[in-house]
This record gives sequence, C-alpha cells and structure tokens, in this order.
Amino acid sequence: MKNTLLCAAIACSTGLQAQTAAPQLRADNIDEVMKAMTLEEKARLLVGGANNFFSEGAVVGGEARLVAGAAGTTPAIPRLGIPATVLTDGPAGVRIDPTRKNDTNTYYATAFPIGSCLASTWNTELVSKVGEAIGNETKEYRCDVILGPGMNLHRNPLCGRNFEYYSEDPLLTGKIGAAYIRGVQSQGAGVSAKHFAVNSQETDRTGVDERLSQRAARELYLRGFEIAVRESNPWTIMSSYNRINGQFSMGNHDLLTKILRDDWGYKGIVMTDWIGIRKGLPTIVEVQAGNDLMEPGQPAQVKEIVEGVKSGKLDIADVDRNVRRMLEYIVKTPSFYKYPYTNKPDLKAHAQITRQSACEGIVLLKNNGALPWKDGAVKKVALFGENSYEFLSGGTGSGCVHPPYVVDMLEGLKNAGIASTETMTDIYRKYIEFARVKFQAERHPAKWFQTEYFGQQKYPEIAINAIAINKEADTADAAIITIGRQAGEGIDRDIQTEFNLVPEEHALITDVCNAFHAAGKPVIVVINSGSVIETASWNGYPDAILCAWQPGMEGGNSIVDLLTGKVNPSGKLTMTWPLAATDHPSTKNFPLNDDLLTFSNMKNDGKPVPGHDFTNHEEDIYVGYRYFDTFNREVSYPFGFGLSYTTFDYSGIKVREQKNGLIEVSVTVKNTGNLSGKEVVQVYVSAPKGNLEKPAQELKAFGKTRELKPGESQTLTMTMQKRDLASFAEADSQWIVEAGTYTFRVGASSRDIRQTATLRLTEYTEKTTNALAPKEKLKLLKQ
Ligand code: BGC
Repeated sequence: MKNTLLCAAIACSTGLQAQTAAPQLRADNIDEVMKAMTLEEKARLLVGGANNFFSEGAVVGGEARLVAGAAGTTPAIPRLGIPATVLTDGPAGVRIDPTRKNDTNTYYATAFPIGSCLASTWNTELVSKVGEAIGNETKEYRCDVILGPGMNLHRNPLCGRNFEYYSEDPLLTGKIGAAYIRGVQSQGAGVSAKHFAVNSQETDRTGVDERLSQRAARELYLRGFEIAVRESNPWTIMSSYNRINGQFSMGNHDLLTKILRDDWGYKGIVMTDWIGIRKGLPTIVEVQAGNDLMEPGQPAQVKEIVEGVKSGKLDIADVDRNVRRMLEYIVKTPSFYKYPYTNKPDLKAHAQITRQSACEGIVLLKNNGALPWKDGAVKKVALFGENSYEFLSGGTGSGCVHPPYVVDMLEGLKNAGIASTETMTDIYRKYIEFARVKFQAERHPAKWFQTEYFGQQKYPEIAINAIAINKEADTADAAIITIGRQAGEGIDRDIQTEFNLVPEEHALITDVCNAFHAAGKPVIVVINSGSVIETASWNGYPDAILCAWQPGMEGGNSIVDLLTGKVNPSGKLTMTWPLAATDHPSTKNFPLNDDLLTFSNMKNDGKPVPGHDFTNHEEDIYVGYRYFDTFNREVSYPFGFGLSYTTFDYSGIKVREQKNGLIEVSVTVKNTGNLSGKEVVQVYVSAPKGNLEKPAQELKAFGKTRELKPGESQTLTMTMQKRDLASFAEADSQWIVEAGTYTFRVGASSRDIRQTATLRLTEYTEKTTNALAPKEKLKLLKQ
C-alpha cells in the first residue's frame, strides 16, 4: 500500500514538472521568474556576458559575440526566456566594427559632434535630436544601450577625455546630458551615463583616489548626474574606475545607494566600467554597494557571488534586489521585444543632423569683420596645417566612432564651390601619407589608443617655408590655418606640446599672417581640438578664429557653412579658456603626464602608482569660472563666450518667485544687427553674504532664442527651482538656501552681464544622507 502511494506521488510530481515548464520572462512576471531562478543563474545575470570588444570572431566567456566591436553584453538565460542585451560605446555615435569577416556589408556609424561641441550649442532641443539619431543607430545595429553620455566635469583642461564631456559647469552638464538621454531613450534604446563619479583625469584612472570635500562632490561632480537622473531617468549608469575619498566607486555604497538611490530616487541599473576586477575589492562588496552589473564580467565573479551567498557573507536579499533591477532593465530592451533591426540606419539623414548640430556648437572666438565671406569674394583658399587635410571628427579610445567618411576642409570648401591651392594640397597630402606610416612604425606597442582602430591620429605639424607661403598669398584670396589636437582615453594631455602651440604652429601663424596681411588678404584659424588650447600668445594675429572642436564626420561642411554665412555662429564656450594651463588652480594637483604614468595606467591593475596615488581637490568648489570670476583672474576667453555675425540687445529683465518655489527669469532679446541669428542667454546668480562661502556667481539657468531676423525680438523665460540655488552644508548634510537678497545677472557670457535684478528669498533646507566623507582633513582654497 505504502509503495503504491509513493509511486503515485512520484508519478504525479514528474507529471507536474513536465507540465510547469520554467516561466518565460515578461514585463509582468518578474517575481515568478525570480522564484524559478537558481542561485547560479542569478549570479550569472549580475556578471557581463562575452567581452566583445577586442575579439575578432572570438567566443569569450562561453558566449559568441553578437555585434562585432560592441563593448559588451549581459548574459542570456534561454531557459527563462532572458535574452542577452548588447552594450556599445558611445558617446559620439555607435562604436562597432565597420566591417566583418566573411561579410560584404558595411557597418559604418555616424560620427556625431563630440560632447564639448554638442554642449556648446546650449540647445537642449537640438541635443535631443542628436540623441534620437544615436538611439536609432543603436537599435538598428542590434544594440540595446549606448555607453554615454560622458558626464564628468572639465575639472582641468588637461584631462584626455574632456572631449567626451560637456563642461566645467554642472548645470550645463546635467541639462545637456538629460537632453541627450531623453533623445536616445525616446527611441526605445538605453543609455549609460558615465563615469560615476569624479573621473576627471585619465592618469592612473584605475587606482587614483580622488580626495575632495563633500560639498565639492555634491555641488559640482555629482550635480550633473543628479539633474540627469531627476530629469531623464537613464536606464543605466556606469560607475567609474577611480576611488573617491578612499573607496572605489564601483564598490561605493555611499555613492551607489545612499546618494544615487536614497537621495535621488534612481531606479535603473548601475554597471561597472570595463576593467572589472580590483585588488582589494571583492565582487560581493560591489553587489552590496548597489552595483548591479559587472562588466565586462569574468566567470570567477559568478563563482564569488554564489559562494558568498552559500557561506553567508553575502545576503541573498542583496543579490535579489540587483537581479530584479536587471530584469526590469531587460524587459525594456530592443533585444527583449525582438526589435527587427536592419543594420541599415539612415546615415544620410543623420549626416544632416550632424552638420546642423556642429554648426550650432562651433564657437566664433574672434572676428575683425573678415567673416562671413561676401558672396564670391573668396574663390580660392590656401589651406595650411595638417588637419585641414586630415580633419579630426572625434577623439580617440572607446569614445571614437568609425564613420563612412570625414569631410575635411578641402572637401568642405569644394562642396561650396571654393577651390584650394594645388601646391599646399600636394605638400600636405604627401606628408600625411608618409607621417601615417612613420607614426605607426614608431608607436610604442602599449599605446593601443594610437592605432586607427581607436580613432584618427594626429601627426606632427611640418614647417612651411616662408617663400612658399608668400607665393600662396599671391594666388589665394584667403588663408585658413587648421590647428589640430588629438586626445582620448587612457592618457592626459601635456602642457608644452598639446595645450600650448609647438614652434612650427607659432611660425605658421606668424608667417601666414605676415604674408597674407601684406597682400591685404584675411587669415582664419580653425581650432580642431576636443578641448581647450592656449590662445593668448597668438590670437592677435589672425583676422578670425573659429573653435570647431571635433565636430563629427561633416566637419568641413559645417565650418564652411559658417565661413560663408550660410549659418550664423551661435555656439558659446562651456569652459573657460585660460591664459595659461597653470592658471587653473586644479593644475597644481593635476598629475602632469609623463611616460611612467602612462604605462602604469596601461597595466590597468588598479594599483596606485607610487607618488601619484591620490589627487587632492584643493581648489574645492572653485572649478572653472567659479574660480576665475571669484578671484578676478584675467582669461583668454571667458565661460559662455561666443561671437555672432549680428548683435543682440537685452532688455526688460523680470524675476519672480511662484508659490511652488519655481523662480522665473525673463528677458527680451532683440537682434540689432543686419543678419539673422540665434543668441544664447545665461542666468548667473550671486548669493548674499551668509554663513557659507560662495563663488561670485553661478550659472543657474540658460536659454537660446529661435533664429531672430534683424530687428526681431523674443522674450525668453528661464526657470529654476529655489532648491537649485542651494549650497551644500557639510556640517548638517543638507542643502541650504540662506535667506537674503539674491542678484540675478543675465548675460551673453560670464563676463558680459547685460541685465540684473534682485529677489528676496526666505530660507530653504533639504536634508540628505551623510555620504562620501573624506578620511582626513583636506587643505582647501578659500576666498
Ligand atoms: C571606458 C568606458 C567605455 C568602456 C567600454 C572603458 O575603458 O572608460 O568609457 O564605455 O571602456 O569600452
């Protein structure tokens, strides 16, 4: 009898098992799927799939690559209907391999303008449009997430990755970042806002300890991310390589849970940056800290999580929380809803978006009336500088893109019916061919970022004989000198040869200006660099200077649109251009680049470099214009500066506070010149003297007019919340707006204030968690 019952029970349970197949993931059955997951499966979901990045056709970590050249994946668990998702670099476009083995199709992606160029548009609508196009390419190339936007602050002009980042100002960083994110995510693809946080240098990036005050962290380095989280809800955030006040970001509970989730209410996932494992940082600490996904992921990490739970070192509740967030992410992805990707995004349409957005991001730094060129006045141009012919569309490293083409200056002019002189074209073309081969032959093998796979390279400038320059001045109607700079991931910039001009460049500027001015012809300098260079020693010579940044693959066309006046420049600087790199107070504590540091960074083992294992943020909250304007230091070009071919008048400022804490600042802008144009309007706020020391002024809102015809006006209303005026009081871990009279200064740059108004405000406070406290007292700059 007993036996019969037992047999019946076994038969019944096997029958049941056969009937209840494992649940298949849907948006509304995450609980059920989690119940069906084994501990092993849960651990696997928290550790990246194959590292696709470097492996041509390879199978890494047991999974075949899905998209050649994409940075990584999340693992598939087919038993539960959980698909792999694909993560691709960014941020200036989709970074995948342009060609594939045994495949005649091509997979070129649009190279959009780099971060500093996009931000210089100060046009959030336009940036969202760029984001939409990037989101579309992400999806069409079978990817789910683009690893961008880059939202670190330009703490110092020497950071190699400034080109991927937006500004020295956190409000601008946050607003531009949020606009990019909204654009990408409107397409049903995701972003990864990176590198969270305080990753403002490349030197020793995997080991360096960034030591800073809680106030500088909250008000500056975290603020942009906070705005992006609150205003655009990024699907994912990437934790940075470095440490902050002693603790690696990727295992930093204060950063990833207390601030990001408890204070800001973030709901998405956090993934690590790509050099995964750190000595002294167990994976289980990362799981506990709230880092949901280890990238690119190693099998040892899965094992560590499983063993951690089994031994009781890791609470299963921590694992479950992260797994749930992963599943909530996965059900939103194109891979999950099986988006019918085409591998054929509309590159032509996106080229137009690139051309137009670059035009708005390029900044006119000087113009003595030489621009725009009058109809037909310039028929032939002498093009100097290597980068006139090898135009840099973007920076190097993971942030580069493989575009189908890059329009250089020669081609841009030709497309507008303007010729270039044959002699210079011939000299430079031949030189570039030679330089390319020499450069690669002499490259140190550890400098992986100096290969074409990681972006266009910059070759040394050559000297052009003064007699040859004189001849050019006889035949050409104008001269253009392109001053190019390349920089990128893994290495910071050098003052002498990268921030400053080298002797060949100085000679070129003076010789070309002397020859062309003697012939009564104009000289225009085009700066083709991802970030700031020295200008004060030479900007008196040329007639006009355009900072073109690295404006994407349509670069030459965008610049010529501006030279010919087809488009009126409206970009403005998002960072101060100092007289010298050493004028920034942060330079004192910025690790000046040398080969020792570079190669130690290449080791990527996260061990600090002796003597360089920390960076003191002694300048504290005095970053960029917050320093230059408070300490009254002369600059070459101030924050927010940019010229137009027309002029604008500001009038009728009004400031009012509504009951809900919203502060409105309105001003009327009138085009008082002879050409149509757009104007970027900036609202700075000066606080009354209170208990907390404050910078002289801080950007609190901005707006951009539509294209105004001569004589036309527009009233812009720019808003901010009262809490946006708060400073961070460390003693009570709270944001505070001290009571008193605030001055609202509306201007065309931080040094060109046109209208002011005042408003009395009552006190406002907002409690936060106490997080990221420095381990020891820091020496900080005071007013
Ligand atoms: C970079 C990230 C990038 C990742 C994947 C890292 O080294 O810091 O910005 O997204 O690699 O390529």
